[in-house]
Amino acid sequence: MTKKRSKDSRVLKAERKVESEVFDRATLQILSKLIKKGILQSVDFPISTGKEANVFRATTPEGGYLAVKIYKIETSFFFRRSEYLEGDPRFKKIKNNEFDIAIAFARKEFKNLQICEQANVHSPKPIFVDKNVMVMTFIGEGELPYPTMNILGPTSEAELDSIISDMKKMYSAGLVHTDLSEYNILLAKDAPYLIDFGQAVVIRHPRAKEFLERDVRNILHYFAKFGYKKDFDQVVKFIIEQQKEQ
Ligand SMILES: Nc1ncnc2c1ncn2[C@@H]1O[C@H](COP(=O)(O)OP(=O)(O)OP(=O)(O)O)[C@@H](O)[C@H]1O
Ligand SMILES: [Mg+2]
Repeated sequence: MTKKRSKDSRVLKAERKVESEVFDRATLQILSKLIKKGILQSVDFPISTGKEANVFRATTPEGGYLAVKIYKIETSFFFRRSEYLEGDPRFKKIKNNEFDIAIAFARKEFKNLQICEQANVHSPKPIFVDKNVMVMTFIGEGELPYPTMNILGPTSEAELDSIISDMKKMYSAGLVHTDLSEYNILLAKDAPYLIDFGQAVVIRHPRAKEFLERDVRNILHYFAKFGYKKDFDQVVKFIIEQQKEQ
């Protein structure tokens, strides 16, 4: 009996340790606030555990799904990424500590998703942001998220056209993704969806043109491997040229 109890308590302790490694206290408080507000009913399971953030599927009180992206606070990874914040005039005042930087990335991703929504880009819609926790629509079918493009590969030139058209819409709305690749595209039924906008910058960023060209190069290089080829200069020109005034 005594033996069993002590084993149970060891298991409990271990479980608590796992829990506290996944969610720090501050994050748990934010999640419970989201549940109290009725935005979420539960956080279900991790979809992805990355270097900079973990993404979870969550369920709403109405039974729908959302995606919750939780930016990690402890990682020094952000110091290397601060170039994306420093050149962005919207985030001039961010101090260089890990908590502020994680919060800045969550807020930045949320704002970037708002711009994408306005511009009709195929991307998740922003729902809520609080400190390092960002809630958005779930891009998936049934229980699971749609696969990233690197898993299935492209299936038509129309997918490339849709991505380029989304890059143009973003650019016209003043944004460059900066980390666009087959890993940050979800293959939904209707179209490819662009995700992961934490590091996207406004076109006033001094390196915006360089980042845009890198995005275009990544995408064209990937599609070219499957036989879908387009001219780099023409695509860049198409994206940055102003639409004619009506
Ligand atoms: N809105 C969403 N709906 C469904 N799944 C999502 C959504 N956002 C992200 N995901 C899933 O989580 C994964 C990681 O998301 P994201 O790229 O935004 O985070 P990340 O931390 O930058 O990850 P990585 O470091 O792997 O690039 C995606 O590949 C995708 O599978
Ligand atoms: Mg990503």
